[in-house]
Amino acid sequence: MDTILELQNISKSFDGKTIIKELNLEIYKNEFITLLGPSGCGKSTLLRIIGGFETPDTGRVLFDGKDITNLSPDKRRLHTVFQKYSLFPHYDVADNIAFGLKLKKKDKAYIEDKVQYALRLVNMEGFEHRKPDSLSGGQQQRVAIARAIVNEPEVLLLDEPLGALDLKLRQEMQRELMKIKKEVGITFIYVTHDQSEALTMSDRIIVMNQGIIQQMGDPKSIYDEPQNAFVADFIGESNIIDGIMLRDYLVQIQGVDIPCVDIGFAPNEKVDVVIRPEDLNIVEPGRGFATGRVMEVIYQGAYYDIRVSCGDFEWAIQSNNPAMPGSMAGLSILPENIQIMHKPRSSDEEIIEKN
Ligand SMILES: Nc1ncnc2c1ncn2[C@@H]1O[C@H](COP(=O)(O)OP(=O)(O)OP(=O)(O)O)[C@@H](O)[C@H]1O
Ligand SMILES: [Mg+2]
Repeated sequence: MDTILELQNISKSFDGKTIIKELNLEIYKNEFITLLGPSGCGKSTLLRIIGGFETPDTGRVLFDGKDITNLSPDKRRLHTVFQKYSLFPHYDVADNIAFGLKLKKKDKAYIEDKVQYALRLVNMEGFEHRKPDSLSGGQQQRVAIARAIVNEPEVLLLDEPLGALDLKLRQEMQRELMKIKKEVGITFIYVTHDQSEALTMSDRIIVMNQGIIQQMGDPKSIYDEPQNAFVADFIGESNIIDGIMLRDYLVQIQGVDIPCVDIGFAPNEKVDVVIRPEDLNIVEPGRGFATGRVMEVIYQGAYYDIRVSCGDFEWAIQSNNPAMPGSMAGLSILPENIQIMHKPRSSDEEIIEKN
């Protein structure tokens, strides 16, 4: 795969506080890459460094192999769409979209053509002469995306562009964005703190916390094989419980030996055991690897969210069948659905785990 952007050893502090820490990342041509992480972890800062709105304290940004670290935003072959739509309120939709092209002194026919193409792309034909404040949030965001696309950037940077929209509209816009991505064939760098959005849209997800990359990979590998407890916890809900890896293929949780598929840990190593709520099954009390009391059952539409308390641990279970609050229930799990992780070693990792 061809690399289009390369971040080398990027660090950034504000007021003595490290926000991005020695970060390295390669971004490939035409991929949809998502920066995902909790609020304040440095996603927007990183995007602003790529876009040229912020200069890193150390490191370099390379575009097609050339150092662009100190190049101004308008000289970069990329375009940023910010969370706030930032349309010009006194211009109509067509003039908003045409703005960049007029600055570049393109001729009228060319501009007209491009504006129509972009409006079709974002499903906004017929809105040419509307003013931004007469549009819904989703429509304004479409115009902002159209305005970016007419400039034919090679890379489109999107900072939580759907954050202000309600769930239904957001999902609709997610599909539209994927369609646009397919049609125009450019690189998308997308920022969100919404994990389901990231899982839906991305070719590759970069999970960040405290300015450090925790894991990168395609959505399935991030979801199925989180590399540490932070990622497991952040991507979907997880049960994370202390365990002891007795030997290859055998882990002990709360005094019970449970078959698993993991190997290569030290004998009796203390580990984090991660189990997804949807991988747990409710069985007769006394069967399975644990038995406890059903504390809570919440109907979620597609499934029931069930809490079962076993000793000092409360398990989260997603099940198609309800359980009776107050009753006893057993829990079972398939060995391949158990994930074993090393406990964090450094204090850095501990900080990450605690958050
Ligand atoms: N110009 C600035 N001056 C001082 N501190 C800043 C500046 N820009 C960002 N920060 C701080 O850097 C940290 C990371 O901010 P950033 O905007 O990158 O987070 P984020 O991951 O985008 O979060 P969110 O999901 O809330 O948008 C925050 O603590 C923020 O307060
Ligand atoms: Mg942000």
